[in-house]
Amino acid sequence: MSTFYITTPIYYPSGNLHIGNVYPTVAADAMARFKRLQGFDVFFLTGTDEHGQKIELKAKETGVTPKEYVDGIVAGIQALWETLNISYDQYIRTTDGTHMAAIQKIFRRLFDAGEIYKGKYKGLYCTPCESFWTESQLVNEKCPDCGRKVQPAEEEAYFFRLSKYADKLLALYEENPEFIQPVSRKNEMIQNFIKPGLEDLCVSRTSFTWGIPVDFDPGHVVYVWLDALANYITALGYESGDDSLYKKFWPADVHLVGKEIVRFHTIIWPAMLMALGEPLPKKVFGHGWLLGVSGDKMSKSVGNVVDPTALCRHYSVDAVRYFLLREIPFGSDGQFSNAALVSRINADLANDLGNLVSRTAAMADKYFGGGLPEERHSGPEDGSLIALAKETGQKAEEHLERLEFSLALTEIFRLVSRSNKYIDETAPWQLAKNEETKPRLAAVIYNLCESVRLAGVLLAPFIPSAAAAIRECLSLPVDCVWEEGKQWGLLPHGTIVKKIPPLFPRIDKMDSGQRTADT
Ligand code: ME8
Ligand code: MG
Repeated sequence: MSTFYITTPIYYPSGNLHIGNVYPTVAADAMARFKRLQGFDVFFLTGTDEHGQKIELKAKETGVTPKEYVDGIVAGIQALWETLNISYDQYIRTTDGTHMAAIQKIFRRLFDAGEIYKGKYKGLYCTPCESFWTESQLVNEKCPDCGRKVQPAEEEAYFFRLSKYADKLLALYEENPEFIQPVSRKNEMIQNFIKPGLEDLCVSRTSFTWGIPVDFDPGHVVYVWLDALANYITALGYESGDDSLYKKFWPADVHLVGKEIVRFHTIIWPAMLMALGEPLPKKVFGHGWLLGVSGDKMSKSVGNVVDPTALCRHYSVDAVRYFLLREIPFGSDGQFSNAALVSRINADLANDLGNLVSRTAAMADKYFGGGLPEERHSGPEDGSLIALAKETGQKAEEHLERLEFSLALTEIFRLVSRSNKYIDETAPWQLAKNEETKPRLAAVIYNLCESVRLAGVLLAPFIPSAAAAIRECLSLPVDCVWEEGKQWGLLPHGTIVKKIPPLFPRIDKMDSGQRTADT
């Protein structure tokens, strides 16, 4: 069986996650579910990035130890993933003993190989971002990532010979056009970081202690990004004594990461792997940001965050998942607002999908409660519906392979709309009035049930609960495979279709106004 390894960024447990944070993990989950449906042996990794000065300071403010502090936040994050139906295979914490021991081995190996050496660091440090910057990288004398003040800092430190990898990185991008996605981010890496010259990277700290100690030089802790990036391999048992998962799943098929951390994943990470002599990930996809209503990046420091748990409780988990993946093309920035969420719910989920499913189920039950008949008469309206249905799965698949979630959903909903139109065209309630048109009615209802079945399969990666409800309504087992979503005519005759409560109740427009206060 082919394998598929997908990762999310590992989160800083520095507070509760907001709806912008959960975005890459919802996307990774849809992708993992899609690949599982296709029959891949999937490994889906997520977790938390728990070391560094930022966490140490947070814990101090709260009056607890750093470990106590992160334990509390991590419990909340794991509960959130449960709420959002995130089907991860492993949750890594960088405070896990196996991860910490593996990082110490990796650090020592790189040191022994001469890839890491001891020197002195002078630079400008941004504490919230855990990043050292050179003068020339600053924007208006501030951190180019977050716009906050940086401090001059100097310390004895270990350095990774990043500078020697510039040409190898350029060759990597050149030979693997798929490595950095979307492609615009590749040019940014080359122009802004590699062309101006790569400097060796400071990979240890002595100014704080909340990190993984360099075992052969106490007082130094491993730079948090080196610690964090290596999670993608330590999670698979790399340097643990049992590397069977590593052998099976590495290299990763795709790392999903926010656009602001593409730099770490496409420069530092591949250089580290080259230095270790390990294979490189196949793809790094830099997703865009969710912006608050004001148009700024949603973040705790800006204070424009929306709580995902409250949103799910209020609007349903599937609605939130659908919105995130449908509203904004994955590589782009896009605004989050409750009004936009409510209009998606009402237009797409309640009107289009919900109506199709409940009308189809109600008619099937009313006219053929004992089971879908075998004798069916085709009609002039069938051709275009069936043609569209037969190509929808293939199109959705092609988009999903490129992580174009929004376009995949657009294709699937094209079939949903077409099917609703088919109800209007064929007017089953007229056909039902007459014994002679019963075979035609049987065909119409069957075709509608088939469309609903296809939608149920194709939507399973995105809205798993609604997809399961659709399968149940068609008396099908919840488990299915992607291929069934590409084939017309699989529903057996005699199928009993059950009536179903609305999948997505309409939301009162009044509700979309000022919900942010309590969501
Ligand atoms: O960067 N819109 O962790 P993190 C979309 N620990 N995505 C957003 C967002 C927004 N408004 N705000 C945050 C880290 N994110 C490191 C990663 S990986 C080895 C280490 C996303 O908690 C952000 O882009 O700051 C990133 O993908 C994720 O949340 C975690 O961010
Ligand atoms: Mg961040």
